[in-house]
Amino acid sequence: MHLDASPWHRPPQPVDPLDRTRFPVDPWRFVERAYDVSDLGLTETLFSVSNGYLGLRGNVEEGRDTHTHGTFVNGFHETWPIRHAEEAYGLARVGQTIVNVPDPKTIKLYVDDEPLLLSTADIETYERALDMRQGMLRRDLVWRTSSGKRVRISSTRLTSVVERHLAVMTLEVEMLDGDASLVISSGVLNRQDGSDEYQVSSAAMGEGADPRRAESFEHRVLQPRLHELRDDRLLLGYRCANSGMTIATLVHHQIETEDPWTERITIDEDQGKHVYEVAATRGNVLRVEKLVAVHTSRGVPPSELADRCERTLDRAVSAGVDQLQQEHADLWRRFWTESDVEVEGHPEVQQAIRWNLFQLGQATIRAGSHGIPAKGLTGSGYGGHYFWDTECYVVPFLTYTHPQAARNALRFRHGMLDDARRRAAEMSQFGALYPWRTINGQEASAYFQAGTAQYHINADIAYALMKYVRATGDRQFLLNQGVDILVETARMWADLGFWHVNGGGDRSFHIHGVTGPDEYNTVVNDNFFTNVMAQHNLQAAVQTVRELQETDPVQMQRATVRLGLDPREIADWERCAARMHIPYDEDLGIHPQDSQFLDREVWDLNATPADRRPLLLHYHPLVIYRYQVLKQADVVLALYLCGDHFTLEEKLADFDYYDPITTGDSSLSAVVQAIVAAEVGHHELALRYFYAGLFVDLADRHGNTVDGVHIASTGGVWSALVGGFGGMRDHDGRLSFDPRLPESWPSLTWRMRWQLSRLRVRLEAEAIIFVVEVGEPVTLSVRGQQVTVGADEVRVPLAGQGPRRIHEPQLQLIGGTPTSEGPRTSDAVPGGAVPHSWSHELDDPTSPIPVRGPGAGPAGQVDPVT
Ligand code: BGC
Repeated sequence: MHLDASPWHRPPQPVDPLDRTRFPVDPWRFVERAYDVSDLGLTETLFSVSNGYLGLRGNVEEGRDTHTHGTFVNGFHETWPIRHAEEAYGLARVGQTIVNVPDPKTIKLYVDDEPLLLSTADIETYERALDMRQGMLRRDLVWRTSSGKRVRISSTRLTSVVERHLAVMTLEVEMLDGDASLVISSGVLNRQDGSDEYQVSSAAMGEGADPRRAESFEHRVLQPRLHELRDDRLLLGYRCANSGMTIATLVHHQIETEDPWTERITIDEDQGKHVYEVAATRGNVLRVEKLVAVHTSRGVPPSELADRCERTLDRAVSAGVDQLQQEHADLWRRFWTESDVEVEGHPEVQQAIRWNLFQLGQATIRAGSHGIPAKGLTGSGYGGHYFWDTECYVVPFLTYTHPQAARNALRFRHGMLDDARRRAAEMSQFGALYPWRTINGQEASAYFQAGTAQYHINADIAYALMKYVRATGDRQFLLNQGVDILVETARMWADLGFWHVNGGGDRSFHIHGVTGPDEYNTVVNDNFFTNVMAQHNLQAAVQTVRELQETDPVQMQRATVRLGLDPREIADWERCAARMHIPYDEDLGIHPQDSQFLDREVWDLNATPADRRPLLLHYHPLVIYRYQVLKQADVVLALYLCGDHFTLEEKLADFDYYDPITTGDSSLSAVVQAIVAAEVGHHELALRYFYAGLFVDLADRHGNTVDGVHIASTGGVWSALVGGFGGMRDHDGRLSFDPRLPESWPSLTWRMRWQLSRLRVRLEAEAIIFVVEVGEPVTLSVRGQQVTVGADEVRVPLAGQGPRRIHEPQLQLIGGTPTSEGPRTSDAVPGGAVPHSWSHELDDPTSPIPVRGPGAGPAGQVDPVT
């Protein structure tokens, strides 16, 4: 599934990367027509089903062949002491890892004692499809047994979005040629603790040294508390050894057949089985329904959770599978009514867009009071942790399509505020400091340089919150929870930064010792992204407090007491924001990523072999930190999020500078590069970046989709469509559009909520068309022209799709005047000339300048030893 032969750090040409003989194009389904064991880990992720609370990887019903079994409950984790080889005060102490909870997916089939195993079976027809419209996984196949009997086998699997504690599975078997004795063995199995029945390693966890994987445990995690049959239902209950979290899983089976059958049910501490034996006659359809309830808690005894499971199952059984499937499909239909994005004329793009949106929906739709893990519930990558991914990549989608889910995600952060206050105190700061990665609210990042140092998480949360409040008008949330977050995060910034007296007595506010989003440059001074976002955070706190004091004085008074707020603090935040140092280099006309950034050598990515990708798996961090090289968009992301602070020229200069040194080793990068490339007029490049993001998982572009879906990237796909090509922005609560429709696309249509209204927007080459589908008229602007839209379509003609650049950004060498901070060792910016510190060494200034970097030897050759 490789895309093309461009240098690896450049986005490939926008071509459909999928093998369409195996994965045919279908706008509403992701379909597999040929079974293949060579990439099981990938397809298990791609065919996952989840509702945001309970997630089932796309493991086959038979329980083997399997790469990584996975059943996850959002937030259900085990803790472990992080042992640092060298201790220091304040390092993260409590590791947290999502648990592989008892697996209820397995339904094995034997025909005349021959087990179905897809890798060896003689399969006549095969189709597996994720039905994105109905929110369900289906598999249909015809198997010819070794005795020549053909068997039709159809199965379905869903995790209900109506009843989030419920999974529903069905299996139908029909003998097409002759009678046979069938055995169906359906069960629930604790795969977390040790190997499964076939001695297959229970998970790929812990394989290799990839920091993006989850940790494996040495101790038994799930301590047995219950194993019993309740009215023939299989019940397993556990308590996590360290975290004390509890879980109960209850499995109900029923069979429908006209043929004679018997059953046997067994249960032990780690496994329950319901085995049916059926004397099947040709043409009779045998159907097994499997309903699974899962309840978890931070400490409620498993016996009580078992009662909850019983109630869930009783309700489900009395509704019946048809109704459960129907209601579930109805909710998915509503999801699409609110959030579908359509691209005409490119069905493969349409399918991929829907797959991304579907995964986004699956990760969030019923996450309720939990966060959104970086991989949703499709794999154990990143240990099931919540990162800034939620606020910068996922909440935007939710704000404009499913505001209630956005509110839940933000309320979840509010619920963590006390932990964040404690963490700030531990880090010698006032206010609150949110953990960089966490499940339970405590910092879990053992590598502080690329973890705790990412203080920008505070500002990201404040940013998402303000966007949500302005787009929805949800003042109640702002008054009850939002203001607390804004005040405590603002306090942290005001305390973290410091005043620097510049020449002439002028003072500026600086933030040192932090890491921005780009994890290839850590613990730096005045990271541009951090400073810009902190400024926004401080301003938002000032503005909100003042506004609420005027509009809701009584409630605000309560908040003032609750927060111990002093008016002098507010004035202080205002000063910090106003005088925030925003790095800018006059010589190069760009914003340096941080105050030391331009002093570093440039890494020559053109000379770095593809097999050294991603850099983080091939070079010691210190090697990477010495260079101008980016893992992911940093300045460029700030240009998008706070785009109203910068001119188009500034954005172009910055984009052109950073693009050639951005590896895109993080999947969070391509989608952002796409948005800003589109804005500054690099239309083709924007489309290439968009494709790169669109197929991050479907084409396994980062080689680790086996560990789960890159949920931030799926959210970024939405932002790239709506913000990038659609040109939608809403700075300071003003909705505006400056579109950039790709030349090869006839149209782009999306829906979005604004205040309480739902707007449909259709972008064509010549016009942008708005209509309010639900609610009150909406006022917006298109390239500065104000428009009010109601239930009748409003068509705004467009004179083109914005500026168009002829040349794509190139890594070039340039000379120039050394800055006041001293000479640079080598510069590489658009323009082409010589690096300052070398210029005096060169007799002929026109001779080629070697670009330094671990990938390049002195003459630009590859030098793997760095
Ligand atoms: C990125 C982070 C991100 C994390 C989880 C890392 O590769 O650099 O920005 O938060 O993945 O998705």
